[in-house]
Amino acid sequence: MSPAWPGARAVLRLGGLTLLLLLLLLCPQAARGDCGLPPDIPNAQPDLEGLTSFPEQSIITYICDPGFIKIPGRTDSVICLNGNRWSNITEFCNRSCNVPPTLLYASLKKPYNQQNYFPLGSIVEYECRLGYRREHSLSGKITCLQNFMWSEPDEFCKRKPCPNPGEIENGHINITTDILYGSSITFSCNTGYELVGETSSYCVLVGKTLVWSDPLPECKEIVHVTPTPQKPTTVNVPGTVVSSASQKPATVKAPATQSQAVPQETTPFQTRSPTKGKETLPVGASTIVSGLVAVTIIIGSLILVRIFWDYGKSG
Ligand SMILES: *[C@@H]1O[C@H](CO)[C@@H](O)[C@H](O)[C@H]1NC(C)=O
Ligand SMILES: *[C@@H]1O[C@H](CO)[C@@H](O)[C@H](O)[C@H]1NC(C)=O
Ligand SMILES: *[C@@H]1O[C@H](CO)[C@@H](O)[C@H](O)[C@H]1NC(C)=O
Repeated sequence: MSPAWPGARAVLRLGGLTLLLLLLLLCPQAARGDCGLPPDIPNAQPDLEGLTSFPEQSIITYICDPGFIKIPGRTDSVICLNGNRWSNITEFCNRSCNVPPTLLYASLKKPYNQQNYFPLGSIVEYECRLGYRREHSLSGKITCLQNFMWSEPDEFCKRKPCPNPGEIENGHINITTDILYGSSITFSCNTGYELVGETSSYCVLVGKTLVWSDPLPECKEIVHVTPTPQKPTTVNVPGTVVSSASQKPATVKAPATQSQAVPQETTPFQTRSPTKGKETLPVGASTIVSGLVAVTIIIGSLILVRIFWDYGKSG
């Protein structure tokens, strides 16, 4: 038992020292006082951060209850003064409408676009966005109502029109609904014409101006295209050569002289001089013919020589 006593004594001594230290630590605070719990504020709760003791200079901030918003310019915190009282604070939370709705055609005017406190009866004003113009017979304002909802806004800004799209030669512009900001128009061509370009365009905003997104297309006369032959079907028929072998489509109404003016565009298979086509044989063919004639003459002569030779021998 005895060996335990010195240890117990040491523990006691240590405990006493700790107590003394604690007292020393607490004494100056006790001297500075304690403000106690901060005052109750309507529609707000103090953020105590789990503390129960609030010495001098302690600052407590309140948070507004849900549905309530801090009134701008009013304080939302208290400070412990002289260690015995909290600084003055007045009610600073009030019921408020939400931030006003975002409208497609209008934006909130200053300073409403920088606020979040809109008590009952608040009135805010909008201004038209680019591409829209004000309809002066309608109100551009909304009110925070009794139920803390905003009054329904009128459509007090109307879409501005794009410039007149004009006309397409040999074609048609189909205005689907109107030519106002955001709408589209479509293009088509009359029969016998083909559309070159875009088939539709939109009324869009470029900078502050409404313009058509795409230029008008062109309606070009459809040309009769004769299929380009894989092999030449007619070689020696002048006149038809060009229209059947021309790489570029030739129009039916094109005059013959015009057709003949483009012999360079005939395929290599075609004769290059259609005007002389019928009278002229190809170089190769005439050579063969001359050769055949020569051979025939030589063979004939030889036969004749042999006949005369045989006749002379027998006679
Ligand atoms: C707090 O308000 C009371 C009463 O309105 C006033 O007498 C006192 O001076 C104010 N104290 C401070 C610190 O503003
Ligand atoms: C709260 O808002 C209402 C309506 O605007 C106003 O009459 C009242 O004074 C406000 N309350 C406070 C504490 O400011
Ligand atoms: C215009 O467009 C609408 C909808 O695409 C279509 O029903 C109508 O037939 C078109 N009108 C003309 C003239 O092309």
